[in-house]
Amino acid sequence: MAKHGPNILLTGTPGTGKTTLGQELAERTGLSYINVGDLAKEKNLYEGYDEEYNCNILDEDQVVDELEDHMENGGRIIDYHGCEFFPERWFDIVFVLRTDNTLLYTRLQERGYSGKKLEDNVQCEIFQTILEEAKDSYKPDIVHELQSNTPEEMEDNIEKIVLWIEKWKQDHLSATMPS
Ligand SMILES: Nc1ncnc2c1ncn2[C@@H]1O[C@H](COP(=O)(O)OP(=O)(O)O)[C@@H](O)[C@H]1O
Ligand SMILES: [Mg+2]
Repeated sequence: MAKHGPNILLTGTPGTGKTTLGQELAERTGLSYINVGDLAKEKNLYEGYDEEYNCNILDEDQVVDELEDHMENGGRIIDYHGCEFFPERWFDIVFVLRTDNTLLYTRLQERGYSGKKLEDNVQCEIFQTILEEAKDSYKPDIVHELQSNTPEEMEDNIEKIVLWIEKWKQDHLSATMPS
């Protein structure tokens, strides 16, 4: 079945700006934004509770089942801080957002993170964990790193992605020629 738009994955360490970027992109392009964390909460797609991190454990299979129809239709922007469990075939392009460690530390503190949770997330960014995960999970030529330190960089990222979407549509949604 033909997709009516590209499927885009926004991934990266918590606090790098996935949600801000995804919502703004959806507003400007008409693509549908899906926050996987919110979806899991709404539909209770969990398989247990992590005592160490005080958070629910995502049921990845259920999340994939839940998203399958959306992805078949196309035109979805998916936001999640992990990416290895999504089927590779889903995405036309993958963006990994990156933020300077000190800026990220402050953002996560402002979000109320502290102690081990704060340290682990900043370390995740230092070790480029999500970037490596994305490169291991998708064809390298569809994985792009985006710097997300300042509002100017955010705007620049939005503009580039909007242009990429327009190009995708030109290439994939050929207008029917009159006979
Ligand atoms: N490029 C950026 N420049 C400055 N602040 C940003 C940028 N991206 C995100 N932020 C801010 O950082 C915080 C975390 O952003 P958010 O979109 O919630 O990240 P994520 O969804 O990846 O956890 C928010 O307060 C947001 O306004
Ligand atoms: Mg978010």
